[in-house]
Amino acid sequence: MWTTLETNLNIAILCSGNGTNLQAIIDNVNKGYIPARIAFVLSDEKKAFALERARSAGIETVTLDKKDYKEREDFDREIVRRLKKKNVELVILAGFMRLLSPYFIKEYRNRIINIHPALLPSFKGPHGIKDAIDQGVKVTGVTVHFVDEYLDNGPIILQKAVEIKEGDTEETLLERVHKEEHRIYPEAIKLFVEGKIKVEGRRVRVIARPAKQAEAI
Ligand code: GRF
Repeated sequence: MWTTLETNLNIAILCSGNGTNLQAIIDNVNKGYIPARIAFVLSDEKKAFALERARSAGIETVTLDKKDYKEREDFDREIVRRLKKKNVELVILAGFMRLLSPYFIKEYRNRIINIHPALLPSFKGPHGIKDAIDQGVKVTGVTVHFVDEYLDNGPIILQKAVEIKEGDTEETLLERVHKEEHRIYPEAIKLFVEGKIKVEGRRVRVIARPAKQAEAI
């Protein structure tokens, strides 16, 4: 199935932290590079700077506190309820530090995407950058992928390699990884909303990558 043929569809972004990827998405929506409407930005952390970024851009924000929900699935049901109410067709995880329940995945199968700071399937988990440095690999990178029931596991949409240089620290590498993230995440979202992505089992076919790449923020 091709993802969608509509443009200007509704997207929602889920974040827990600083939100630099969110900013790159907002900027590229505002420039018209991503033909979509941001229905809302949701966070599980009321202090997330990502919420500030959304508010400054005039985007609706939602904060949910996990303490108000007994089970993970109850929390996810509330998110899904809000997504459906706003006719959201693509859910974008941008530093959202929670695992999604099978319920959420089932409701939005192949319509949830995530960005990971490593070349999956290497260095899964929350410390992709540190783990790559500790392992001594010479090349790491960035992966945009669909989200399935397993951690950092779903079908891969786009990847970009980033070289690890002599003397790199987590900070210096993070900076270069972020630069690539801020280019390929908007590009992957654009491909999805323009209906140029087809999921065939584990393989994602991309019909035509945009001639113009998103600019790094
Ligand atoms: C990014 O490095 C992304 O790969 C990972 O979480 C980080 C979020 O950073 N999933 P930011 O909040 O977008 O700055």
